[in-house]
Amino acid sequence: MVPEIAKVQVALGERSYPIYIGSGLLGRSDIYRRHIPSSQVMLVSNETVAPLYLPKLTEALQGFKVESVILPDGEQYKTLEVWNQIFNQLLRKQFNRQCTIIALGGGVVGDMAGFAAATYQRGVHFIQVPTTLLAQVDSSVGGKTGINHALGKNMIGAFYQPRCVVVDIETLASLDQRQLSAGIAEVIKYGLINDAAFFAWLESNMDALLARDPWALAYAVEHSCLDKAQVVAADEKEAGQRALLNLGHTFGHAIETGMGYGQWLHGEAVAAGMCMAADMSRRLGWLTSDAQARIIALVRRAGLPITPPNDINRERFLSLMGVDKKIMDGRLRLVLLKAIGVSLVTDAFDQTELNNTLNGYAGKPD
Ligand code: NAD
Ligand code: GLY
Repeated sequence: MVPEIAKVQVALGERSYPIYIGSGLLGRSDIYRRHIPSSQVMLVSNETVAPLYLPKLTEALQGFKVESVILPDGEQYKTLEVWNQIFNQLLRKQFNRQCTIIALGGGVVGDMAGFAAATYQRGVHFIQVPTTLLAQVDSSVGGKTGINHALGKNMIGAFYQPRCVVVDIETLASLDQRQLSAGIAEVIKYGLINDAAFFAWLESNMDALLARDPWALAYAVEHSCLDKAQVVAADEKEAGQRALLNLGHTFGHAIETGMGYGQWLHGEAVAAGMCMAADMSRRLGWLTSDAQARIIALVRRAGLPITPPNDINRERFLSLMGVDKKIMDGRLRLVLLKAIGVSLVTDAFDQTELNNTLNGYAGKPD
């Protein structure tokens, strides 16, 4: 039991909002009442999460006119067609432009519900109740919403901030171990991009996290949210430093799209992608071999893949990476590492070393 509520603030002027982190928050009606300005509330969840947590959330919303829409479960359903189910329900139930949409679920539900909130009647109120570790430390914070396209991951979407984020650590009890590890990938990411002390904390506390020690989980979630809130407050629309949060994602999105959505978990693809970024950084002479070894060791200990699937060769990687959102003036930009806790976004790298990394990982000689 983690008794206290931690509150992390995302500072965005009049659109600032709190992230509440603690145990048993799902049923805390006082929190929702503080942030719901409407009578109509649409809960968006999926067929796995709804049976587990929708009743408790609905009970906490007594007094509101609550409706729900339950989406199919999986990354492969993060599509335009499934997204439309949210609008069907909003219109069927005659929801007006003062309504509030609450996302209850992992990153897929959160991204889809958030994008619906951004666009329904040109924008309605939105609250995130993330139930996976990945969503609690990353996707529910910062306002990126969207859906996939067959040709590229998260290619259609909007920046749209929630009114608050409610993180109930207890929901992680029902998460399977593979999903927990996938969330840990994004936690490791924060240590790598700008927080060497947090990376060292993870090296000491990985066993506790994997065993779901509530204090370790609460600390990791709060610390990750603090790191992310700071970056988002400084660069909400990713004009600069927010792109650092995409460490491992250019390689990772290529893996997800290349393998078919839902085959590799997002966090797994990011984990392999971070190891590839570390490999390329070491080849460029920017990262020491010792640092690379520490990164690989931590990713492996978290139960995550350290290499991409063999099915994607260098040519396919390069073609898939060609639709990355960080591309500027036709030039591929990558997030790379100078050290653990020191990252940069750059297009100033020797293409040969990218090819060497891709060749190396496809099992070919350097
Ligand atoms: P997910 O939403 O698919 O959830 C993973 C699985 O866990 C699903 O089967 C889900 O039904 C289940 N689940 C959720 N909560 C549960 C619980 N408490 N108990 C048991 N099962 C539970 O995947 P995810 O890893 O949460 O999110 C990945 C998605 O997030 C990707 O689409 C990725 O692109 C997106 N993402 C977005 C951002 C952003 O900034 N918006 C950042 C990172 C990732
Ligand atoms: N997950 C990357 C970002 O929010 O910018």
